[in-house]
Amino acid sequence: MNEIIFKKANSPFTLIIFGASGSLARLKLFPAIYELAKENRMPAEYKIVGYARTPMTNEEFRSNFEKSIKKKEKHVDQKVLNQLLENLFYVAGQYDQEDDYINFRKELKKIEKTRNRVRIAYFSVPPMAFKSIFKNLGIVNFNTKKTPLRLVIEKPFGYDLRSAKKLQKILKKYFESEQIYLLDHYLGKEAVSNLLSLRYANPILTTLMDKKYVSNIQIFGLEKSGIEGRSNYFDHVGIIRDMVQSHLLQILTYLTMYLPEQETDEAIHHEKARVLDSIRIKNIKTDVVRGQYKKYLDEPGIPKDSQTETFAALKLEMKHPLWRGVPIYMMAGKALKQKWTAVVIEFKPRKPQKNRKNLPPNRILIQLQPYEKIELSLLTKLGGKTFDFHELTTGRPIYCSGDCLTEHGRLLLDIIAGDRGLFLNFEEIFAAWVVTDPIQKMCSKKQKRCKDLLIYDEDSLGPKAADDLIENDGFSWFYSLPKNDKSNL
Ligand SMILES: NC(=O)c1ccc[n+]([C@@H]2O[C@H](COP(=O)([O-])OP(=O)(O)OC[C@H]3O[C@@H](n4cnc5c(N)ncnc54)[C@H](OP(=O)(O)O)[C@@H]3O)[C@@H](O)[C@H]2O)c1
Repeated sequence: MNEIIFKKANSPFTLIIFGASGSLARLKLFPAIYELAKENRMPAEYKIVGYARTPMTNEEFRSNFEKSIKKKEKHVDQKVLNQLLENLFYVAGQYDQEDDYINFRKELKKIEKTRNRVRIAYFSVPPMAFKSIFKNLGIVNFNTKKTPLRLVIEKPFGYDLRSAKKLQKILKKYFESEQIYLLDHYLGKEAVSNLLSLRYANPILTTLMDKKYVSNIQIFGLEKSGIEGRSNYFDHVGIIRDMVQSHLLQILTYLTMYLPEQETDEAIHHEKARVLDSIRIKNIKTDVVRGQYKKYLDEPGIPKDSQTETFAALKLEMKHPLWRGVPIYMMAGKALKQKWTAVVIEFKPRKPQKNRKNLPPNRILIQLQPYEKIELSLLTKLGGKTFDFHELTTGRPIYCSGDCLTEHGRLLLDIIAGDRGLFLNFEEIFAAWVVTDPIQKMCSKKQKRCKDLLIYDEDSLGPKAADDLIENDGFSWFYSLPKNDKSNL
């Protein structure tokens, strides 16, 4: 086995977190920063600077940071945490006031001991605040030769194709494309990038992944939790923008794109965009099911007449030469029976399945969450003289045994190193909006109650119409929900 190289941040940096008072910062960014410090992956010189409108002192910011780590981690290394806290600072200001940015830049210069460093502006604010920050960062030049600025923007980029293009236009006015890191944190998950590696490394997956053999593909992004207090974010976005437009379509690209000969970032982005460009929803009325969980309207901060969907099931088609005619089904939702992210590839029936309708198809299951595993469903002879079959399932968990990090930690190291391979490009984002925009238009906000929005019970598998969607084509959802105990890990 080759020696494992553990990636470290190799240059001094300042990480500016816009919206440092919010939920993404608390739940994802702070723990990722602590993880990098604990694993000794930070450079000697770095600063983390929070910026938001909420008034806070450095001490209060450090105390919030510490609380969020202690809430998440069972065993905290207090020495590491104390050293980290010394590198934390906070500046309060508005997002749309130029003077506040002039003041912020002055404060930054005091905080940063050395000039030669990468500056990273992380957008941990809701999309409506993006425009002001882009503009002011550009006008009050935070980007200098000695302190090159990189902008990190979380998905969803925009609200639809039109708004995404507008945002891009503003960005391009002030920044070069190499400075922009469009982040979908699923691409930082070891399990998701492994999808592509599995296909590169295993002829069984390379050869069989073709319309000649595959009857249908199912992609699941199920959540047991509801919106977890993120009403401000979620009610504006909904599950289609939150999960389908980004995470699930990205998983589909890794699963179905041509594997380019050259594994360059450009070649991979190009093939991903080709897949996305080829996806369409044929009949928006019959191929989309939208749902809302029963207690959604009782969640704090959710308007009583909200028509935001918390569940979606869709049927997609691809014009891509490898996949023409193979239906792709996606299901995503909140407050469901179990957390489960998985891909199921079902194969066309062979003679035994054609003869006996109750025999299951051959399948490959690639489970990404709650833990990674790969499973193969085959048919094997029942035994005795009859030529009869039963199902044989063989599989095992996949362990990360190399350079393992959580997604935000991994992506932060890539940003510091200037490595853009795991980030999206505008072409992919625009193509994904083209797929989902027609669904958003189905349900105009002006309607009192969307006819198509189906109410479903919490702890279920969504509305019954989702089953009809796939069963009408002669298939069924293949749920292989893991048992709650993890003794098989
Ligand atoms: N939370 C997640 O798990 C998650 C996952 C994927 C992507 N994202 C993306 O990450 C970004 C941040 O999400 P979040 O959940 O952290 O958001 P959030 O908690 O609602 O907002 C973060 C901070 O932004 C400021 N803010 C809130 N509403 C604002 C408004 N209308 N205009 C200007 N500023 C506002 C607030 O800080 P001040 O009032 O102190 O300024 C707030 O603390 C969003 O772009 C979201 O799409 C989040």
